[in-house]
Amino acid sequence: MTETSKTPVHVSIIMDGNGRWAKERGLERVRGHYEGVESVRACTEAAVEEGVKYLSIFAFSEENWNRPEAEVNALMSLMAKCIAAETPTFHKNGIKFRVLGNRDRLSDELLASIDATEQATSAYETLTLIVFLSYSGKWDILQAAKKMALEGKDVENMDLADFDKYLVTAGVPDPDLVIRTSGETRISNYLLWQAAYSEFYFTSILWPDFRKPEFRAALEAFAKRDRRYGKVK
Ligand code: IPE
Ligand code: IPE
Ligand code: MG
Repeated sequence: MTETSKTPVHVSIIMDGNGRWAKERGLERVRGHYEGVESVRACTEAAVEEGVKYLSIFAFSEENWNRPEAEVNALMSLMAKCIAAETPTFHKNGIKFRVLGNRDRLSDELLASIDATEQATSAYETLTLIVFLSYSGKWDILQAAKKMALEGKDVENMDLADFDKYLVTAGVPDPDLVIRTSGETRISNYLLWQAAYSEFYFTSILWPDFRKPEFRAALEAFAKRDRRYGKVK
């Protein structure tokens, strides 16, 4: 492990460019998603090796429900397959697995396998791997506000840390580093609240090509950043 004080505690990735990766090769978009799974594996391994404590990945946004039905179905079944295939690795490497997002549109079968895997890995502490599924930042803030209202929360005396507790990421430190692949330089309704002071790293590499060396390069770039949080240094 090469953990240093410049190692980010939480790295979050907007995994983008699977479709373009496939198109460049004359393949169906879904092949890009399959290849992207290998990148998730590689980055998870690299995160463990580098001493990163939280790795989160944006796998499917609320807006992605608007894609063609066949692609949505392929992504959902890929998710289910990956959970089953990767669970032994979670046990072997001490990885706590979590899925965060709007559960309303997920199938009962998928939810059952998510719940079972979350429970089975809940005691692990080497790395927490969070998959944001059917997630959007605005949805998260809205569901937090609704929950507070329903609980009759004393909002007048509430501070930022109190608000944090109502987001689906409650208890998870905010991302230190947010990576986006594929050359797009937007946040696409991802962690709007939580990324308030994250460092951003944009790369034109397409997600299926983003492996251990690329992950390490992002960590190296992060180590050179000067985080000031509005102060003068
Ligand atoms: C990222 O790749 C995966 C998801 C958003 C589910 P894309 O599918 O967005 O690939 P591009 O952006 O079309 O190349
Ligand atoms: C963002 O990628 C969502 C995920 C990576 C899951 P998109 O490909 O959906 O984003 P836009 O449409 O280019 O903003
Ligand atoms: Mg995309």
